[in-house]
Order: sequence, then C-alpha cells, then structure tokens
Amino acid sequence: MNKTILITGGAGFIGSHVVRLFVNSYPNYHIFNLDALTYAGNLENLSDIENKPNYTFIKGDINSDEFVISIFKKHKFDSVIHLAAESHVDRSIEAPLAFVKTNVIGTMTLLNAFKNTWKGNFNNKLFYHVSTDEVYGTLGKKGLFTETTPYSPNSPYSASKASSDHFVRAYGETYNMPYVITNCSNNYGQNQFPEKLIPLFINNIINNKPLPVYGDGNYTRDWLYVKDHAVAIDLVFHKGKNSETYNIGGFNEWKNIDLIKLLCKQMDIELNRPTGSSEELITYVKDRPGHDLRYAIDASKIKNELGWTPSVTFEEGLKKTINWYLNNKEWLNNVTSGAYQSYYKKQYSN
Ligand code: NAD
Ligand code: TYD
Repeated sequence: MNKTILITGGAGFIGSHVVRLFVNSYPNYHIFNLDALTYAGNLENLSDIENKPNYTFIKGDINSDEFVISIFKKHKFDSVIHLAAESHVDRSIEAPLAFVKTNVIGTMTLLNAFKNTWKGNFNNKLFYHVSTDEVYGTLGKKGLFTETTPYSPNSPYSASKASSDHFVRAYGETYNMPYVITNCSNNYGQNQFPEKLIPLFINNIINNKPLPVYGDGNYTRDWLYVKDHAVAIDLVFHKGKNSETYNIGGFNEWKNIDLIKLLCKQMDIELNRPTGSSEELITYVKDRPGHDLRYAIDASKIKNELGWTPSVTFEEGLKKTINWYLNNKEWLNNVTSGAYQSYYKKQYSN
C-alpha cells in the first residue's frame, strides 16, 4: 500500500534513524521530513538517502500554524510520526518556555492540521507520537515503569512531553483520531548531539576534557541502542493497536558512574591510551536540580504483543557508537562549533 508520511524532527538523532529506516524499507511510501534545523538538527545525518525518490525534506517550524496547515493542504499526509522536540533536560531547566512552545504548542499545531485535513474520515490514517519514559517521573531503587504508571513529570522537559502525550490522547478520545504513543527510555548511538551523557563524554575523552558527573553519579537509566528504537517504531507504526501506549526499553539498567567507567575503559582501548587514563578525567560537579533518581522500563507489552526485543547488547552498541564517533570527527567538529560551545560554557561554568 502507498502511504504519504510526515516525519517531524527527522534531522535529529532518533528521527534520522527512523527516516532512513522508512525510506529504505518502504519504496512505496513517500517520506516527508519536516525539521526546523535547530542546533540539534543536522541534514548531514541523512546524506546517504537525500537523493532517494521517495524522500523529501521540508524546512519549517511545527510552531507555525499557517505553515503546517499549508503543507498538510499540499501533501495530504495520511500518517504522522512526530519526533520534533526540544529534547535536553538541562536546556529545559535553563529555558523552559522553548519546550512549551515546540513540545506542547507544536504538537497541538500538528494535531489540529491532521484533524482538519481528514475531518473525521480517518480510515487508514495514524498519528504516531514519540515520547519518553521521563513522563512517569522517578522510580525508587525498585520497580519498573509500565504503561499504566501514573504520569508525574519532574523537569520542564518531561512536563512538556507529558502535556503533549495528554493532548494526543485527548484528540483520540474527543475526535476519534487514530493514534499510538510510545514512551521510550534513554537512547544512545551514532548521530546523537554531544550534549547528552554518552556522546558528550566520548567527545570530552577524545579532547582530554573533564567528564562532568552530576551529583554522586548514582543515578540509573535504562539504555537502548537507537537503531533498536527505530525498529520498534516501525513495528508499532504497522502493527500497534489504535489508541494504545507502548513502553520501549533496553532491559538494560546502568548506574551513571558504572556506565561512565565502562565507557572510559572502552575508550582507552580504542584510543590506544594507557588503561585508566580516561577515568582520570572524571570530575564530580554540582547536581542537576530535580534530578530523577532512576528510570527503568517494563517493555513486556511490546515484547509479548508485537514480538520486539533489542537486537544488540549494551557492550556491542557502545562499541559501535564509540567507533562511529571516532570515525566521524568531522561530524563532531561541525556540531560542536558556535552555539553549542557557548551553551557548554554556561552549563558547566561552576
Ligand atoms: P534531537 O534533539 O536530537 O532532535 C530533535 C529534532 O527536532 C531536531 O532535528 C530539531 O531540529 C527538530 N526540531 C526542534 N524543534 C523543532 C520545531 N519547532 N519544528 C521543527 N523541528 C524541530 O532529539 P532526539 O533525541 O532525536 O528525540 C526525538 C524525539 O524522541 C523527541 O520527541 C524526544 O522527546 C523523544 N525521545 C528521546 C529520547 C532520547 O533518549 N533521546 C528517549 C525517548 C524519547
Ligand atoms: P542525559 O543524557 O541528559 O539524559 P536524561 O537526563 O534524559 O536521562 O543524562 C543521562 C544521565 O547522565 C542523567 O542522570 C544525568 C547524567 N549526566 C551527567 O552526570 N553529566 C552530564 O554532563 C550529563 C549531560 C548528564
């Protein structure tokens, strides 16, 4: 079957993997990638598929009502896979309003355009909203987030994502709009902007810069290789049940400090440096305000209902990730210039 799919945020980290997977796997689908190319969006991520006949890039802002309506009018997207967002917790603490604008208003703008294009005739249509496990707040030492865990967001980022999830659900209930939501754990892999833990630390190790560990480093995250997330999105897009939420996770919990030590060890090997030299860069810095202690996903619903499981172990995924950054220093240099440098100075100045 032919489809005309709007993927938002496709020039970003996860979005670029989703766009590539769909463009390569489904020659009958036309994939439109709508991205504002903020500091986090980078078309270099998609240079290998940019000339494919079933791919079109559209530069634009999901906050612009008029613009979004105009592209829906022109292309009549029958499906939306919505990833565009402000995505970094530390930036949301600095400047929360940008998160409300893109993550809440931007999502509303897309929902309205979708609703008004199809006017209740939603046969074979789908609005797929990509979200995060952070909407559930924090866990103590035990337990897992399930699809029925109550929302309890603690950062402006997670509050904005929680709000967008609620609006998607409300449009489903109120206007019978077909939708699915997935809430995924922390992703890692190639093309991630080096402000998030793993690529930031890889970049700092390469450059012999301090590794800023927040608080005591005893915070826990559940890590998933980005290509496994993209495969899960493909599966939920095609086989997920209307109006359902699926949690996606790596079955892979790590305390930050343990993960950082593993990363340091692998970096020493890859860089041919004496064992222990990267660990010497570890520097404990002031904690993130409202820092969630632990995220961990119960991904048994997607596993049991749709047969999805992660395909790589963390050690394999981390090795692939490290090698990608080491082989793509130009990409790293390009994205770490200008705006990122001034953000970095401000974030880690005391
Ligand atoms: P990212 O920051 O790497 O990419 C976001 C993309 O959205 C960028 O290309 C950016 O240019 C674009 N964008 C931002 N504002 C826009 C706007 N107003 N209009 C159009 N485009 C805009 O983010 P990511 O890590 O790839 O995350 C993608 C999605 O997945 C987000 O919705 C995020 O909440 C969700 N998510 C991320 C993770 C993770 O670990 N990174 C985990 C779970 C869920
Ligand atoms: P991050 O990659 O920002 O993802 P999230 O906040 O969405 O989980 O951070 C992952 C963990 O690493 C989190 O507990 C915060 C911690 N962290 C540091 O200790 N130092 C850093 O410089 C960064 C960016 C994160």
